[in-house]
Amino acid sequence: MRIAVGSDHAGFQLKSALAKHMADAGHQVIDLGTDSPDVSVDYPDFGLAVGRAVAEGSADRGICVCGTGIGIGIAANKVNGVRAALVHDVTTAGLARRHNDANVICLGGRTVGAAEAIDAVDTFFSTDFEGGRHQRRLDEISAYESSRVDAGPASPNHERQ
Ligand code: RB5
Repeated sequence: MRIAVGSDHAGFQLKSALAKHMADAGHQVIDLGTDSPDVSVDYPDFGLAVGRAVAEGSADRGICVCGTGIGIGIAANKVNGVRAALVHDVTTAGLARRHNDANVICLGGRTVGAAEAIDAVDTFFSTDFEGGRHQRRLDEISAYESSRVDAGPASPNHERQ
């Protein structure tokens, strides 16, 4: 699978560990930065970059990390077609896939340990969407995205400022 990964400085360490883990597992990792824990950067740049990569189809899924996973997930979710889920553990990772068909997993580098994060990511990438009533709910979200006056084409790069 092609996996876009992105973080700010607070998520750099965990992002690096997850990127290595996924590459070791045979995935193609597309690292969209940041490249250092020592330079303060703004998480929207990286959340939007990962979101765009997934929405445009240059990546199949995304991994986002900031201090809490909250800010970078908010940013990623501004991109139409992105379903970014803040995950804390294996349970939330599994449900994000089974019920929400999440295509981006968000984690907090300051709130989740590396071992737990790796287990959560492994679960995220090995769990299927259940469909059924959950698909109907996702369709509501897609319909809202399509109906927005500022909505652009389905892809690529269709979010608006
Ligand atoms: C950076 O200090 C921090 O605010 C950021 O990583 C993130 O936690 C925001 O949601």
